Amino acid sequence: MSEVDLTVHLTPDDVVRALRSDVRAGLTETPKSLPPKWFYDARGSELFERITRLPEYYPTRAESEILQARAAEVAGVTGARTLVELGSGSSEKTRFLLDALRDAGTLREIVALDVSESALRAAAETLVSVYDPVDVHAVVGDFTQHLSLLPGGAPRLVAFLGGTLGNLVPADRAKFLAAVRETVDDGEWLLLGTDLVKDPETLVRAYDDAAGVTAEFNRNVLQVLNRELSADFDPAAFEHVARWDDEAEWIEMRLRATRPMRVRVPVIGLTATFVEGEEMRTEVSTKFRRERVAVELGDAGFEPVRWWTDSASRFGVSLSRATS
Ligand code: AVJ
Repeated sequence: MSEVDLTVHLTPDDVVRALRSDVRAGLTETPKSLPPKWFYDARGSELFERITRLPEYYPTRAESEILQARAAEVAGVTGARTLVELGSGSSEKTRFLLDALRDAGTLREIVALDVSESALRAAAETLVSVYDPVDVHAVVGDFTQHLSLLPGGAPRLVAFLGGTLGNLVPADRAKFLAAVRETVDDGEWLLLGTDLVKDPETLVRAYDDAAGVTAEFNRNVLQVLNRELSADFDPAAFEHVARWDDEAEWIEMRLRATRPMRVRVPVIGLTATFVEGEEMRTEVSTKFRRERVAVELGDAGFEPVRWWTDSASRFGVSLSRATS
């Protein structure tokens, strides 16, 4: 049986440096904010898995429904030799695509990119055992930084699923999509999952579930800062907030200080003060309309060739070709 080929573009040292720099920037600006990428330590990833099974959190199920129904069509249209999966190397949804590409007889290589080496290794081992003799390349890296370094023969299909594009603000989305376009050659493919605009109650419930799992997930970022930077946040003193922003068309998650606090982050020599009721932004999750997805893809040099939604029109998956 073949082995996993692992490439590391991001060492644990790089990761801690990036965390320090993000925390220094985020806690000294007004209003305070933290990037959502720091949610995903082991506990955060486990909480996210629980979120995907909550009755209120529909995106994962909706996207799975689409991929299950359309994977054979994706394989037929693209004839992809290489599937490149950005983030979430363990995703069950990707299996629909891999099965379809294998059944179509075109699949030769799988490239999985993730920031977490341990998560990636485990996922890649599984992929090797299931899809042998397909070559599996595991790349430890950040999808906003290491795209140009991806292996794999053409035609490649880059999959960016889960609605993660929505966690980037518009300028960062444009940068990211342009970087994907730079990475692929003319005629290669991008499969993109995007959650859709819908009634605000449904959206807010998806990000503020009755069981409080999303609240725990949100507060967990403070535990990450406590552990990695010896910060002294009291997570119990922060309330989970999920708000729909009608202008930006995104859900914003925040942590609200329930009392005045002084928080020390000795590793970066920083003391941050919170007034009672102060809110720190921890995530935006943009919801899209079909036209907006098409415009952003077009601006980046992709031509959308298919657009699918689930039966309840909650989530969209687009398949695009890189244009010359
Ligand atoms: C799956 C990473 C896109 O924005 O819905 C879930 C993460 N945040 N609940 C999303 C998330 C709060 C998420 N992504």
